[in-house]
Amino acid sequence: MVAARAGQKRRLVRLSAFFSLFAVVALAGIPAYVAPASGEAAAVFVKKIPSRYRDWRFVSVAREEAPLDDIRVILGNDIAIKAYREAKLPFPDGAILTRLAYRYEPSEENNASFGRQQSFVAGHPKNGVQFMVKNSKKYAATGGWGYAQFNDGTAVDDSLLEPCYPCHQAVKSRDFVFTRYAP
Ligand code: HEC
Repeated sequence: MVAARAGQKRRLVRLSAFFSLFAVVALAGIPAYVAPASGEAAAVFVKKIPSRYRDWRFVSVAREEAPLDDIRVILGNDIAIKAYREAKLPFPDGAILTRLAYRYEPSEENNASFGRQQSFVAGHPKNGVQFMVKNSKKYAATGGWGYAQFNDGTAVDDSLLEPCYPCHQAVKSRDFVFTRYAP
């Protein structure tokens, strides 16, 4: 009689252990069923500044009028430079492009040598440092590129990163990259 009751109790314990395991598995599965309201994946942004970007290679330069009013350089890591040189699109995962911008300043020193007003150079950094990091899975919601901006080394808020992809869509046919490789 006692033995039968103990056996029943063991079965009950096993049964409840099975159901709690079932509950854990079911709960763990829930996030997979909760799709974003719009049906589209939410944008993921880059929050960590890629290391050694200042050593990357030259892609091209650009000058922006006010209100940006800067002179800028576009650099690429080895993967990006290789893709540019081979004219391979889309850029492969691991490619990273950066845009550094500086005040566009007249150089009194250079002008003195030339004997006239003509020289403009890069002044203090401005308008942040921007990145596009290629990872076709992680950043699928934004064309495979993760966008980032750091102002004085600090990542900007997501709200400032939302306009990046919509504007870069203008050059979708060039894998969302505006800058052409300068010879
Ligand atoms: C209004 C349009 C527009 C918006 C918004 C914009 N960009 Fe760009 N971006 C450009 C253009 C045009 C260029 C090429 C010329 C230049 O650098 O000024 C460029 C160049 C770049 C480059 C160099 C690679 C390339 O595509 O030429 C990077 C990196 C970049 N942008 C990142 C960003 C990030 C990060 C954001 C959001 C914080 C952003 N951009 C927002 C238009 C835009």
